[in-house]
Amino acid sequence: MTDAVAAAFAALESHKRSIEATSLQALFNAEPKRFERLSMKLGPILMDYSKTRVTAKTIRLLTDLARAGDLEAKRDAMFAGERINRSENRAVLHVALRNLSGTPMLVDGRDVMPAVAAERERCAAFADALRSGALRGATGKRFSTIVNIGIGGSDLGPAMAALALTPYAKRGLGVRFVSNVDGAHMADTLKGLDPARTLFIISSKTFTTVETMTNATTARAWVAQALGEPAVGHHFAAVSTNLAAVTAFGIPEQSMFRFWDWVGGRYSVWSAIGLALMIAIGPRNFQAFLAGAERVDQHFRTAPLTRNMPVIMGLIGLWHRNVWGHASHAVLPYDQRLARFPAHLQQLDMESLGKSVTLAGDPVPRATGPVIWGEPGTNGQHAFFQLLHQGTDVVPCDFLIAASPHERGRKHHDLLIANCLAQSQALMRGRTLEEATALARDKGMSAKEAAALAPHRVFAGNRPSTTFLYRKLDPATLGMLVALYEHKVFVMAAVLGINAFDQWGVELGKELATELEPVVAGRVHAIDGLDGSTAGLVAALRKLRL
Ligand code: F6P
Repeated sequence: MTDAVAAAFAALESHKRSIEATSLQALFNAEPKRFERLSMKLGPILMDYSKTRVTAKTIRLLTDLARAGDLEAKRDAMFAGERINRSENRAVLHVALRNLSGTPMLVDGRDVMPAVAAERERCAAFADALRSGALRGATGKRFSTIVNIGIGGSDLGPAMAALALTPYAKRGLGVRFVSNVDGAHMADTLKGLDPARTLFIISSKTFTTVETMTNATTARAWVAQALGEPAVGHHFAAVSTNLAAVTAFGIPEQSMFRFWDWVGGRYSVWSAIGLALMIAIGPRNFQAFLAGAERVDQHFRTAPLTRNMPVIMGLIGLWHRNVWGHASHAVLPYDQRLARFPAHLQQLDMESLGKSVTLAGDPVPRATGPVIWGEPGTNGQHAFFQLLHQGTDVVPCDFLIAASPHERGRKHHDLLIANCLAQSQALMRGRTLEEATALARDKGMSAKEAAALAPHRVFAGNRPSTTFLYRKLDPATLGMLVALYEHKVFVMAAVLGINAFDQWGVELGKELATELEPVVAGRVHAIDGLDGSTAGLVAALRKLRL
């Protein structure tokens, strides 16, 4: 971390001390136009961050921080195809996948756009053929179910988006997602499916991920057993960067779709990894999804820092995590179809920012990523919101809500919106001891009873939240939302000087699992080399196993 960044953080820390005693409510009282100043619109999305504890000076200091962190130059380096993922020596160019204008984007001096467009065309032709019934299974039946087999970025993005865009999905064509190596996931997914009408898409950047390859092998056996070995090629497609491994699996070239090492797994939904989604919603809607992201990319590239939505999101993220010390961040979509959005953001944010060293390999002197979590409202209100309101930790929240639903009738949606707005209001306003006491007295309690109960009904308030209000959850809006969070993460990583695009932290567990598998399976009996706890668990397992 440079001295300039350290100094900018120090300035923010001293500023925080100067505003700490001022409540959010007081900030609103002092400035009637606070909402106008601290909200911004980008197309169909309005972001209101007036309920975060920022002032004009905070924003000024945060943009100083962005400049100290060389944010704009780092952003431009990404768009220029430089190898900014240094520990893997790779460019980071998922933005090329939604560059629908086709303007050249270079990696090592070569324009990647022709290959990107050609692969997208191939996916669209495949999706159209399948949707129209021109592409059929080995027995001549139309496909009725697509099963995507993948994990992490090869699952979360398309699974999240397929659920989010359910109203745009083709009727009579189901899309399912299998990720977990737990055989229950595959078994439950295959239940009721007709092998003759099922197409599997094996999605794996590396085509070596043990969960995906294990599930793929099980699915292959399921097809071969029902329809015979020659049918396999008709019932499998694959998306990967490892075409040799795809061929070895027995998938023909016409059902093989590629992407490139400059697309990180958690940023890959825009590539052929989105094939299952494209089949579900059709190539045109998929194009709209890309167009939404492209719109955000253009904005991120060109808007001034103070009017740049993902930049503000990232800077507020740093303000909360690094200056206020809030260690977790809740994403609360008031949109049932965004149920998997927090899970997608979990990988995006936590795999990207979960780092302890800088790009140069030195310890990061500050906290990096927060814990990201969340569930749709209003369900969460009846589960974990208690802690958000009265717990001892402050958890900044993002609320997401559509102005209009896809369903007819406004009764449900009016209630949904009212709840969403009420929650951010309650987090901000809180309730004082005097108010809680008066409330109890109004209900007829004695002064003693009221005094005993009131502390339990106090809300500290001053709890920050940001609200994203969008017209409707359509493909373009979803594309925008995902891209906004992608760039938010970029901003945080750029300022902290860490690599947002590697994920070495997943390696050790994978290696140890590979070593343990023969011990668990009983092919290796000796357990004396294991640590005491693991050895004890293996010994107990051996006794307990049926
Ligand atoms: O969990 C690590 C990881 O490499 C993710 O980054 C990635 O999205 C996932 O595994 C799946 O990898 P692959 O697409 O190569 O199967």
